[in-house]
Amino acid sequence: PEPVQEPPLLQVLNKLQDVLVVSGGQAQAPKLPQIVVIGSQSSGKSSVLESFVGRDFLPRGTGIVTRRPLVLQLVRTAADGDTASATDEGATVEWGEFLHAPGRRFTSFEAIRAEIEAETERKLGKSKSVSADPIRLAIYSPHVVDLSLVDLPGMTKVPIADQPANIEEQLRAMALTYIEPEESLILAVSAANADLATSDAIQLARRVDPEGLRTIGVLTKLDLMDAGTDALAVLQGRVIPLKRGFVGVVNRSQQDLFDGKSPQAAREHEARFFANHPQYQSIAARMGSRYLAHRLNELLLSHVRATLPALHQKVSGSLSSARAELRDFGDERLEGRSHQGAFVLQMIHKFCTNYSEALDGTSVMV
Ligand code: GDP
Ligand code: NA
Ligand code: MG
Repeated sequence: PEPVQEPPLLQVLNKLQDVLVVSGGQAQAPKLPQIVVIGSQSSGKSSVLESFVGRDFLPRGTGIVTRRPLVLQLVRTAADGDTASATDEGATVEWGEFLHAPGRRFTSFEAIRAEIEAETERKLGKSKSVSADPIRLAIYSPHVVDLSLVDLPGMTKVPIADQPANIEEQLRAMALTYIEPEESLILAVSAANADLATSDAIQLARRVDPEGLRTIGVLTKLDLMDAGTDALAVLQGRVIPLKRGFVGVVNRSQQDLFDGKSPQAAREHEARFFANHPQYQSIAARMGSRYLAHRLNELLLSHVRATLPALHQKVSGSLSSARAELRDFGDERLEGRSHQGAFVLQMIHKFCTNYSEALDGTSVMV
């Protein structure tokens, strides 16, 4: 038989996320390490997420566009699209797949955007209301680094249209349920042209992570700061102490989007911005979207490793109860999922064993 290549840890975790959701054990399911993006409306959250993919695929517009959380799994594929999960159609290099439409490959990013909108409306109609029920999307591409991210509806203070009067509390509560678990890394997005002291993202992150141990600050719109001012002190961690630091980014403006500026042109512009800026030149290597994506991959990986032994125990428990439930149903499709679950569990066990052996020479008990 062909030697099976072991999938990277973060990809195993993505599978596990899917299996746990589909097997219905969501309520008791263990919290998995993921990166949760928070920030007020229009702070630039969607722009940051899209910059990790290098494609435009998130619904855009003014007002509240994101009305359900989007769990976004980025999966790095080989350049020819040939991975363990891509067995056919090797020519298709980049595609998306929704958990609610398994097996259907979206090769057009415009169609991915339309499907996010359609799936939002299936749940919420054309109202402006919000729901905590997530949409799950995986993007396979040779241009991404493995990441698992959650995009949340942005925080807003003033209810519009048919939104309930307590929309602000609702949005805050939703964000809190995602960032409260220790397993979550918090990507706190603030715009550089607004007062950081009143940033929704920073304030909310502080409530669950007061010491700033698992919060990564992102400062967007550095290009929009008043002439003569800069954010060097913030980016160097001298204003708000976060152990994981601040990364500055420059994304496309609304005008750039109207003009059809490409994501690639945006990245080049961003690189030039930092390299040529008199204040940021010295820290340019640690700025920008590309750096941010790699830094997040690193942080998520070390976060996963740190929580792995505890996770292994929780996962064993929920998978065996999910398997027992599935046996009772006797549903063949679900049986398939259960086998997948067993496979994922095996992989996690292997990672745990290797990891702890590397640590102290003893292996983790199942
Ligand atoms: P979200 O509501 O937090 O998801 O914010 P978006 O990513 O949708 O961005 C809101 C608006 O700000 C859009 O018009 C973007 O084009 C613009 N924007 C985002 N980031 C930047 C940036 O770094 N510089 C500039 N000039 N505009 C930005
Ligand atoms: Na925002
Ligand atoms: Mg958005």
